[in-house]
Amino acid sequence: MRKQVIAGNWKMFNDIQASVDLSAALKNGLSSLSVNCEVIVCPPFTALDTVRTVIKGSVIKLGAQNMHFEESGAFTGEIAAPMLKSVGCEYVILGHSERRTIFGETDQLINKKIKKALSAGMNPIFCIGETLQERESNVTFDVIRRQVVEGLKEITAEQMAKVILAYEPVWAIGTGKTASPAQAQEVHAFIRGLLTELYGNTVAGNVVIQYGGSVKPDNANELLGQPDIDGALVGGACLKAESFIGIITAAK
Ligand code: PGA
Repeated sequence: MRKQVIAGNWKMFNDIQASVDLSAALKNGLSSLSVNCEVIVCPPFTALDTVRTVIKGSVIKLGAQNMHFEESGAFTGEIAAPMLKSVGCEYVILGHSERRTIFGETDQLINKKIKKALSAGMNPIFCIGETLQERESNVTFDVIRRQVVEGLKEITAEQMAKVILAYEPVWAIGTGKTASPAQAQEVHAFIRGLLTELYGNTVAGNVVIQYGGSVKPDNANELLGQPDIDGALVGGACLKAESFIGIITAAK
């Protein structure tokens, strides 16, 4: 039985004070609830250490939004896996569509990052998803296949126990347009089928596949109720403790 995983991607929001306020409100709000899913917050790099201190002793885990694939070196402006580990990050979002489209990240680059995160002992949250144009040209499944196969190249079955996938249709991110539960389930089932081809039934059956794209408290229940949707990667709705908690309580 897979445990659902709800992760909040803060993106480029929240200075230190706002980060303290949000993480403290989340910690407080969750303290009186029985939480039966994994909860992860992914603040910007500048707030990681502070948020780590605030969430100490709670169920909330810490993640980053990106990292470089090298161990260290002359890469001005970049952050390495050991640095993230040293501030308590257990998770790292890799291959988010904003990284792919705005910063030109390729499947090959993302694959290098996933390998690095795993060798550093972190859990990658590996994002995939088609654009509106790709969906309308009926190439969604080809795009997903390419992203999964290339992104997971040389990742072993054993390592897959640490990998979370996040299916985020690009047209649903930050747009208020959600994939219908049936549309999302269809792609999630396809992804699990692909993982079965690559790694066999047992491994594929254990991989957590999150859905992302305008997840809100009022649509979370139905999305999270789909058989192959194992959680959510949340953008906009994770910036308010109340709405993030609303999604967390919808998890199974
Ligand atoms: P959204 O973002 O919930 O604001 O659509 C999701 C994401 O980008 O991970």
